[in-house]
Amino acid sequence: MRTVRDIPELENIPVLVRTALNVPIENGKVTNDYRLRRALPTIKFLSERGAKVILISHIGEQGTETLEPVARALGKLISGVSFFGETIGERARKAVRELAPGKILVLENLRRDQREVMNDRAFAKEVAALADVFVEDSFDTCHRVHASIVSVPEFLPSYAGILLEEEVNELSEALKPKHPALAVIGGAKFSTKEAVLTTLLKTYDHVFVGGALANDFLKVAGQEVGKSLVSNTAGNSIKKILANPKLVLPIDSLVISSANMSAIDARMSARIATEGQVQSDEVILDDGPGTSALLADLAKKAKNILWNGPLGNYERNFIDATDAFARAVAESDAHSVVGGGDTIAAIENLGLLPRFSFVSTGGGAMLDFIAKGTLPGIEALDKNNNT
Ligand code: 3PG
Repeated sequence: MRTVRDIPELENIPVLVRTALNVPIENGKVTNDYRLRRALPTIKFLSERGAKVILISHIGEQGTETLEPVARALGKLISGVSFFGETIGERARKAVRELAPGKILVLENLRRDQREVMNDRAFAKEVAALADVFVEDSFDTCHRVHASIVSVPEFLPSYAGILLEEEVNELSEALKPKHPALAVIGGAKFSTKEAVLTTLLKTYDHVFVGGALANDFLKVAGQEVGKSLVSNTAGNSIKKILANPKLVLPIDSLVISSANMSAIDARMSARIATEGQVQSDEVILDDGPGTSALLADLAKKAKNILWNGPLGNYERNFIDATDAFARAVAESDAHSVVGGGDTIAAIENLGLLPRFSFVSTGGGAMLDFIAKGTLPGIEALDKNNNT
């Protein structure tokens, strides 16, 4: 993979960097700048060598949000940042022409133009027209077949950024773990996790499925899950995974009556249900303490731990199992790799992030990379390098 270090000339050269600026915003303010801090090495590398650094990114799913507050937050971490409220066209090109060497320009949310998610080639060409060189550093989005990810590299000499290089190196290593190796996959939606579970069951010794994802497995295994969130549409695929002795499921859960679901203090009414004890009107919202003890034991013995996805309903503040596992990993001597927005936020709240060996900035991208060993955005760079 060619990286920013291989770009022959940078002084006064406009360089387009696809960066991960998709950060949480509340009341016009960035509430977590973790991804911005991880974007800095590439930005600094280019800026210190006199490049005109043009940052492009999406924020949010709908294309309605603006990157202006993100540019402001970035400006607190590195000097020389300005924002321009358009993404393509003559005015954006003029803003780039007027940018002094070493300065950083954040352009508006790529998804404001629907052609970004449609992977429209003409849109990609217009984006590429802003610069002479393209750098891909948004690992978190490399699983998306969007214009800025897979088509812009067709029009410009393209390189990997420092963060992307680090993600690829670290996650490639995680595909060859030291044993015993423990993988923990939480969150929801089996359809988005099936491929990664299949890969992990080949390479890891224990694959724990937690969070709402576990409900699908418990249900297919014939256990009562009451009114819990289930997404299974693939009973046969789940049955196949259930038959694998490496699969580990929760042995107890934190449940509440569905009648209490809308209560603000729903957590207060939670009870622990062991295997087979969930009632038909109850909802599973977290893994229970027995499960946490089981996971802590596996983490203690492991040499390698891979983790993506919270183990409880994070939005509703069911965070006990997630926090307990974060502590167990922090205490373990294992090489630990973690990813996913909610998972990282939970670990960060506990101040335990520095205790993890590698923190991936990807959520879905991390899972897809583990499943397939590559991503569309990485393949697009390799294709460009061969031509
Ligand atoms: C993420 O936060 O997972 C990435 O930035 C991708 O965002 P998306 O799910 O809106 O494509």
